[in-house]
Amino acid sequence: MPLVTPKDMFARAYLERYAVGAFNVNNMEIIQGIMEAGAEEKAPIILQVSAGARKYAGQTYIVKLIEAALQESDLPVVLHLDHGPDFDLCKACIDGGFTSVMIDGSHLPYGENIALTRQVVEYARPRGVWVEAELGRIQGVEEDVAAEVSIYTDPDQAVDFVRRTGCDSLAIAIGTSHGAYKFKGDAKLDFPRLETITNKLPGFPLVLHGASSVPQEFVDMANAYGGKVGGARGVPEDLLRKAAGYGVCKINIDTDIRLALTASIRKFFVEHPEEFDPRSYLRPARAAVKEMVRRKIRDVLGCSGKA
Ligand code: G3H
Ligand code: 13P
Ligand code: ZN
Repeated sequence: MPLVTPKDMFARAYLERYAVGAFNVNNMEIIQGIMEAGAEEKAPIILQVSAGARKYAGQTYIVKLIEAALQESDLPVVLHLDHGPDFDLCKACIDGGFTSVMIDGSHLPYGENIALTRQVVEYARPRGVWVEAELGRIQGVEEDVAAEVSIYTDPDQAVDFVRRTGCDSLAIAIGTSHGAYKFKGDAKLDFPRLETITNKLPGFPLVLHGASSVPQEFVDMANAYGGKVGGARGVPEDLLRKAAGYGVCKINIDTDIRLALTASIRKFFVEHPEEFDPRSYLRPARAAVKEMVRRKIRDVLGCSGKA
């Protein structure tokens, strides 16, 4: 099945109050693990490529790997640029076959974020490509940047932003952050704010970044086999499920993939120090990614059987 845009995926997710998983991909094993999970759960899938992933794998390689995955699949799949930093990169991805791009102008002054997002929308729209934008700051992986210093999305500004940019979906800041160290105190999201945004933008798809849950089993496994992943905390899964009931149609997961893959590889190396065939450790690592994604689809996102 050819790549699709998120349009129909999100329309249904919004109505039926579930979210589609947007999984970051960097290599073949990650793509395969996600696609196998999607196939077993009959779920729609968003494969997202960050600027860093594009640089690591090369745009042609990553797109061709995804095309290969599609040849063996009848799932609806979106190819999305995650956190596009500027117009040129969004343009390169639109020209290169992506069906959705994110332009992340959230670090810019409000007017500049609008202008940049608008520029990408004007290029993407006639080409049939979806545009996700971001308003508010979802913080990065730096340990000194805690969720409480995130600048949460202002609901009235969100309405103005969507109207003035024409973006198709919006990433909002309600307390999540990127990486494995999301909360110092209680893990909480600003649901009243989310509800206000949803009420002010009825029917409009919202996106939750920084939505990994950092499963304890992977943290424990990584640490038991020589890792040092101390104090890591993610978003509790019941909060993600709840967010899907408030217009959040896309939930981004990268860190949990990294943890599943790395914990599995660490375990393998400790248990098989004599092994050096990459297939021997990448096979169980791919299976770990698949199982993690499958469980997310089924138990957290609620998009099983929605392909
Ligand atoms: O939001 C960021 C994603 O986790 C991608 O991370 O830029 O290291 O590929 P990356
Ligand atoms: P996590 O770091 O929580 O997996 O977030 C990923 C993300 O938002 C990618 O854009
Ligand atoms: Zn993100």
